[in-house]
Amino acid sequence: MAYKVLVTEPIHSDAIDYLREFAEVRIGKRKQYDNEDALVEDLEDFDAALTVLSNPVSERVIASLKRTKIVANFAVGFNNIDVEAAKKHGIRVSNTPDVLSEATADIALALLLGVARKIAPSDADLRKGLFDGWHPEGYLGMELSGKRAAIIGMGRIGTCIARRLKGFGIQIGYYNRNQVAHQIESELNAQFFENADELFAVSDFVFMSCPLTKDTHHFLDKRRLGLLHKNAIVINTGRGPLIDEAELANSLHQGDIFGAGLDVFEKEPEVHPLLLSAPNTLLLPHIGSGTFETRRNMGFLAAKAIRFVLTGEVDGKLTNLIC
Ligand code: GLV
Repeated sequence: MAYKVLVTEPIHSDAIDYLREFAEVRIGKRKQYDNEDALVEDLEDFDAALTVLSNPVSERVIASLKRTKIVANFAVGFNNIDVEAAKKHGIRVSNTPDVLSEATADIALALLLGVARKIAPSDADLRKGLFDGWHPEGYLGMELSGKRAAIIGMGRIGTCIARRLKGFGIQIGYYNRNQVAHQIESELNAQFFENADELFAVSDFVFMSCPLTKDTHHFLDKRRLGLLHKNAIVINTGRGPLIDEAELANSLHQGDIFGAGLDVFEKEPEVHPLLLSAPNTLLLPHIGSGTFETRRNMGFLAAKAIRFVLTGEVDGKLTNLIC
């Protein structure tokens, strides 16, 4: 085969079979490429890399590439890749948008329902034998209908979250770099807030769903956490560093907010110890896009970008090249 592709971790075999139609494929072991040295050493021989979000494709890694034409990230977020360096060195970068939006929005809603109705502690108590019959005042949670949500980042995933929230009778406010099309706003009955602080101050449920950039790092910081009211619930399905985790943990421990549901963490796979002990906090091991269908589709999307860049031959239009 003329081309060589390194897939840094095992992914769905259908996507691997597709890559094997035009390239020789090597598949790394889990976590093998979670460090720069391994990437620098091994990528030398490959025309393309299919990476996962824990692979640090830094400026140093990019600058070391001799033969690699594309880094195809198996994720919608690409904060693990230095895209500016890639542009400078003429290396293409792709991500896997769209195919994971519905799955990730499902997890955002699962977190909201779980926290609002205290699902995890109720289940845990029952298993411990603490269910002693129906209780008029046991495990009281929060009604969803009639509440107000703040969606921070009304992109593809944010929009899918909003569609679900509308179905629950929740009023939607959003903060985004740009106001979205009026047609979408009216379909979702969503209100654009130019000022995120004003939105935080009036919202019951906060969904962090924007990309992690220099501007959004710790977007929900101590000051903004202070704007939330006592019954607020914070959900994060974006990236951990969007929230100052230590401050969120403090708010939870002090009872300043009702609860939090997190699928992502600042220093994955570490989880802040104060979050582990925080009340009414549902913590998931980054499973937003984790459905069979979505992970298979993500594999195809990444593999297709590789095929396009290396061979110029793919069916249909490619919309997932970032540079
Ligand atoms: C997962 O977190 C992704 O960015 O796809």
